[in-house]
Amino acid sequence: MNKGVKRFFVFFGPPGSGKGTQTDLLAEKFGIPVVSPGELLRHEEDHGTALGKRVARLIDSGRLVPDSVVEKLIDNRLRKRDAKKGFILDGYPRDEKQLAFLTKRFNKIAGPKDAIYTFLIHISNAEVKRRLGGRRVCECGAAYHLKYNPPKRKGVCDLCGKKIYVRHDDTPEIMDKRLKLYHKETELLTKHYSKIGKIIKIDGTKTIKEIHKDILKNIK
Ligand code: AP5
Ligand code: MG
Repeated sequence: MNKGVKRFFVFFGPPGSGKGTQTDLLAEKFGIPVVSPGELLRHEEDHGTALGKRVARLIDSGRLVPDSVVEKLIDNRLRKRDAKKGFILDGYPRDEKQLAFLTKRFNKIAGPKDAIYTFLIHISNAEVKRRLGGRRVCECGAAYHLKYNPPKRKGVCDLCGKKIYVRHDDTPEIMDKRLKLYHKETELLTKHYSKIGKIIKIDGTKTIKEIHKDILKNIK
């Protein structure tokens, strides 16, 4: 690819489909940041900011945070220098309003030679539950799975050495709610996505490495 050409990525997929896992690998490969509203919101919550306190109840109960709040977070993050040569969206857009915001943004920042890749990682609801049931996360954003992707040292993050823990929204009841919401709002949105481009479907049931390879095969 020519120098100066930017790459943008958008990732769709149900909770636990591996969006965070795959976007981190892609970020390492291309040297561009992951922009994840979920991570940004959890950061606010963990640090007890005013915004964090406002949104904690929504996140922890599996509901979406208001579009205006997420829009502002995304906007601030995209203004940072490291996002100027491209970025990877994990979990955005999730509804029609967010899609409209992103379409406008891409019209402004993506030139005719730049590339926008959109992936949809597909896994069944039963697999979602297996994945989320064994997930452990770290405050630094890293995610592990007790069986499929364990940390090198039990209970401790490989990257920063802090203690890993269960996400507040990874309880069976909240998992169900998040899944239902995904199928109702976001999955529907993927059907209208032609405003930005075509969606590349990825089989999310393979191993983390295989999925990474499948994603790379689609990138020029
Ligand atoms: P967010 O943090 O985005 O949660 P999510 O969409 O529910 O997705 P997850 O992070 O749970 O799953 P993932 O696909 O990243 O999977 P992961 O890689 O961790 O959003 C959280 C909340 O924030 C929302 O509910 C909402 O309240 C709010 N929010 C976020 N975005 C918003 C928006 N746009 N608008 C409004 N509100 C918003 O993998 C899962 C597990 O599986 C891990 O343990 C991992 O190690 C393991 N794993 C991954 N890949 C594989 C594999 N191939 N094989 C085996 N195990 C695997
Ligand atoms: Mg995630």
